[in-house]
Amino acid sequence: MPTNNQVQDCGTLIVQVAQVTADVLILLFQVLYAFILSIVTLVVRKQPKSVRGEIVLITGAGHGIGKELAFLYASQGATVVIWDINEKNGTQTVKEIEQLGHPKAHFFLCDVSNRENVLTVAKDVQQKVGDVTILINNAGIMPTHPLLEHSKDEIQRIMDINVMAHFWTLEAFLPVMKKHNYGHIVSLSSTAGIFGIPNLVPYCCSKYAVRGLMEALYQECRADKKNEIKFTSIYPYMVDTGLCKKPIIKFQNLMPLVNPKEAAAEIMDAQRRDLNEITIPRYIFYAHNLCRMLPLKAQLFIFDFVGVGLESDLS
Ligand SMILES: NC(=O)c1ccc[n+]([C@@H]2O[C@H](COP(=O)([O-])OP(=O)(O)OC[C@H]3O[C@@H](n4cnc5c(N)ncnc54)[C@H](O)[C@@H]3O)[C@@H](O)[C@H]2O)c1
Ligand SMILES: *[C@@H]1O[C@H](CO)[C@@H](O)[C@H](O)[C@H]1NC(C)=O
Repeated sequence: MPTNNQVQDCGTLIVQVAQVTADVLILLFQVLYAFILSIVTLVVRKQPKSVRGEIVLITGAGHGIGKELAFLYASQGATVVIWDINEKNGTQTVKEIEQLGHPKAHFFLCDVSNRENVLTVAKDVQQKVGDVTILINNAGIMPTHPLLEHSKDEIQRIMDINVMAHFWTLEAFLPVMKKHNYGHIVSLSSTAGIFGIPNLVPYCCSKYAVRGLMEALYQECRADKKNEIKFTSIYPYMVDTGLCKKPIIKFQNLMPLVNPKEAAAEIMDAQRRDLNEITIPRYIFYAHNLCRMLPLKAQLFIFDFVGVGLESDLS
């Protein structure tokens, strides 16, 4: 004869099992729902939201992808704030935007790797232009050579500009976004932030860091159910800005350098449609995730076959 206690234990166990089974069933439905939703949004593309009246701050917008982004946002009616360490190129960007007939562009000299400088210039921006609603962390550098040929100052510089700067701009602009529960953070990582590449050890490290920062921050903000601040991480393949000095591409026709204007258009589109992350081009996302499920040796065969890389900029 089972005792009363044993009967009770058995009863709780059955209730617990039923509860977990129900939870797992709910989870399965949620996953299925997410799948269907993502397929539907692939087919019926979400309308890009307007950026008219937004204040968009783009770091490193004196040249390359950042500059193209500044043109695009200005042409869509946004107020554009350009930050760069290079004064000549930053003011030149403003001048070219104004020549196109968009008066709402401002340049501020700022070294994003310097926390004091970031916080001071951010205050200046707030007083002269207003609250930044879209922050695009774009400034970056890419010294390219074997790890042991990187100087310690260079490694430090890569981490300061490509990673630490994100903390300082977030410190400057996230509080106001939180206060209004409104805003968008966009960060430039790289395909070098999803797989390791020879001659780019510190750079890959910095771009992996950006990915981790963005993913964790997204999760943290999402924990607040009312959060409306959006996050977008960008992983471009090599873009034709001069940043990649000696690209090696085996299949020139299949994998050409990305045009900076096209890269900027993809980035703005991803931001305006609230996409959480995109690779440029898009197929790399799927190819990479599939590849990661394979055994290491198979991954390496594929890596060698694709044959994309960068020669040392010292040789
Ligand atoms: N070009 C590519 O192939 C490629 C690929 C993947 C990711 N990315 C990333 O995209 C971003 C933009 O790259 P790009 O090719 O347009 O580079 P770029 O060199 O053409 O432009 C970068 C701009 O950032 C500015 N800058 C550098 N250090 C700064 C600092 N400390 N403070 C403020 N401004 C600073 C430079 O003066 C320059 O105007 C970078 O983060 C880069 O890592 C580029
Ligand atoms: C400034 O712009 C010119 C012309 O686009 C470019 O050649 C140069 O490399 C830029 N300087 C920097 C530091 O990005």
